[in-house]
Amino acid sequence: MNAILSEVSAPFAIRPFDAPLGAEVLGLDLSQPVCNRAFLRVHDAHLKHHVLVFRDQHITPQQQIDFSRLFGKLQIHVLRNFQLEGHPEVLVISNIIEDGKPTGLGDAGHFWHSDLSYKETPSLGSMLHAQELPAEGGDTLFANMHLAYDTLPSALRSAIRGKYAEHSYLAQYAELQRRSPFRPNLTQQQIDEVKPVTHPVVRTHPETGRPALFVSEHFTTKIVGVPADESRALLDELFAHSVRPEHIYRHQWQPGDLVFWDNRSLMHLAAGCPPDQRRKLYRTTIEGDVPF
Ligand code: SIN
Repeated sequence: MNAILSEVSAPFAIRPFDAPLGAEVLGLDLSQPVCNRAFLRVHDAHLKHHVLVFRDQHITPQQQIDFSRLFGKLQIHVLRNFQLEGHPEVLVISNIIEDGKPTGLGDAGHFWHSDLSYKETPSLGSMLHAQELPAEGGDTLFANMHLAYDTLPSALRSAIRGKYAEHSYLAQYAELQRRSPFRPNLTQQQIDEVKPVTHPVVRTHPETGRPALFVSEHFTTKIVGVPADESRALLDELFAHSVRPEHIYRHQWQPGDLVFWDNRSLMHLAAGCPPDQRRKLYRTTIEGDVPF
């Protein structure tokens, strides 16, 4: 974690949601330096609730980057064409098409996933700051993967004990290209940047020690060392179990929301909105550890 910026900041409240995860943070202005005490409270709450919703944030992309950097190094997304101009650390999530060209990654989150699980060092957490919100739809859903692990039927738990799974950025890429206009053909250099990796099917959160399921329909291709049909059946069961309603918090965006989630504890999904409704958010992604 990086240095803290200031020694003073105003009081603020953290209110847990009536949901299996998540809390809102009220009265903390992220356009101002965050003091050491405030940072420690936010950090603790993030570990406890996995999603923090900071309300009423009127911040610049640079202020979002500065706040994100308090938690670690930022990761640059492989789709460079959707970087915010002048701020490569910011990935533009937008369904807006201008002059026939997408202005952002409009189909991000189309399948359940944990950000950058296809990297050797997947993301610790991501921050998404609302810029333009649709009048209808556009929610983001989060699944608590600790709860998903804790409630696994014992046969399934035994079947995955000690197993590793492959994660690939390309797993659903052709399918997404078929469904939407947001995915350019990748260069060989981009393909080389996202070579498949393997991670434990159950990872241990490096800060809390809690186990979490770590497979997703977007990026996980197979369980290593298991016959293909068995691997497919196991993954399908794990995906279905992970997203049971009792594991989910559904975020309905409000203007000014900045949402910070823990990719080591959660998967997320963008529910989508009608194509004639504009939706734009800025995402920063913080690098995590090698899963164990
Ligand atoms: C993402 O997957 O990072 C985007 C989620 C969203 O647009 O709600």
